[in-house]
Amino acid sequence: MKRILTGVQCTGDLHIGNILSVIKPAIELSKENGNTLVFIANLHTFTSKKNPELINQYLYKAATVWLAMGLDINKTIFFKQSDISGICELTWILNCLTPYPMLANAHAFKEKSNNLADINVGLFDYPVLMTADILLYQTDLVTVGNDQKQHIEIARDIAIKFNNTFNTDLFKIPSELINENVKLIPGTDGRKMSKSYNNIIDIFAEENELKKEIMSIVTDSKKPEEPKNPDECNIFNIYKTLASEDCIEDMRSKYINGGLGYKYAKDTLFELIINKFKKEREEYNKIKNEIKYIDEILKVGKEKAQTIANETLYKFRKLLHF
Ligand code: TRP
Repeated sequence: MKRILTGVQCTGDLHIGNILSVIKPAIELSKENGNTLVFIANLHTFTSKKNPELINQYLYKAATVWLAMGLDINKTIFFKQSDISGICELTWILNCLTPYPMLANAHAFKEKSNNLADINVGLFDYPVLMTADILLYQTDLVTVGNDQKQHIEIARDIAIKFNNTFNTDLFKIPSELINENVKLIPGTDGRKMSKSYNNIIDIFAEENELKKEIMSIVTDSKKPEEPKNPDECNIFNIYKTLASEDCIEDMRSKYINGGLGYKYAKDTLFELIINKFKKEREEYNKIKNEIKYIDEILKVGKEKAQTIANETLYKFRKLLHF
C-alpha cells in the first residue's frame, strides 16, 4: 500500500481554505488507505513566528481541527514534527546536497525576498526541511495544495541527488497528490483566503465571531431589487464552495432575477456553515480544552512515526559512517 503523507503549519487559525484544500481530502484518502501520516509542521512555523507559547497554542488548535474534521487516529499516524528529532539531522545532510539556485528560485521564497535583510535562513531553507519530512518516512505520495507543487519537485530532485551521490536507493522518490477538484477558496475580500490577508472565515469560531467574519465580506452597493451577477459577488463565490448543487442554482437565480439583498445572502451563508459543520463544531467544542487527550493522541503518533523514522535513520547513519 502506498504511503501518503501530509503536513500543515500551525501559523494561525485554520480556515475554510485549508480545510477544503488539504484537511478534508487528506482525511477522505486516509479512510481508504491505512498507511497515512499526518503531522503538524511546528518547526516550519518558526520561519515566520518566534513566540513558542503562541505556536504551541496554534499547534493544539490545528490538532483539534484535524480531529474534529474526523481524522481517524486508528488508521492514521498523527504527530508533531518536532517530536522526531532525526528530521533536523537529515535536513543538514540534505542541505549539503542542495544547489543554492534551486532554493533561490523557489516561488514561495522569491515572493518574500524583496527585502533580504528581513529573511531568515530558515525561510530560505524551508523546502529542504520539507524534503526531510517527506523522505524520512519513505513517502510515496504527498497530499498538498497546488501552491506546494514546486516544493515536491524540489524534494524529488534532492532525493535523486542523494541516492546518486551515495550510490544508494535509500530514499523513495515521492510524487505530489493534488486534488484538482478543489477550487481556489476566496476570502472575505475576494483574494485567496489566507491568514496573512486577514480575510478568513473560521468555521470553528464562536457563532458571533463567525457572523462578524461573514458580515465583513466585501460587496458592491447594489440595492436588493437590482439583478446581480453572482459570479462577481464574494458571498456567492464562498457559498458555492460549500453548498449543494441545488442550493447553488437556487441562489444563482435569486441573484440574476433581482430581489436578493446581500444581508440575506450573508445570513444564508452563515446558516449553511452552522448546519454543514454542526457535527464538527460540536466535536471541536467538546475537545478544544482537552489538552491531555490531545497529548495522548500525539504521543501514540510520535511512537509510531519514530519507529518508521528509525528504520531510515539507521541506514542513513550507516551509509554516512556516523
Ligand atoms: N509547507 C506545507 C504548508 O504550509 C507544510 C508542510 C511541511 C508539508 N512539511 C511538509 C506538507 C511535508 C507536505 C509534506 O502547507
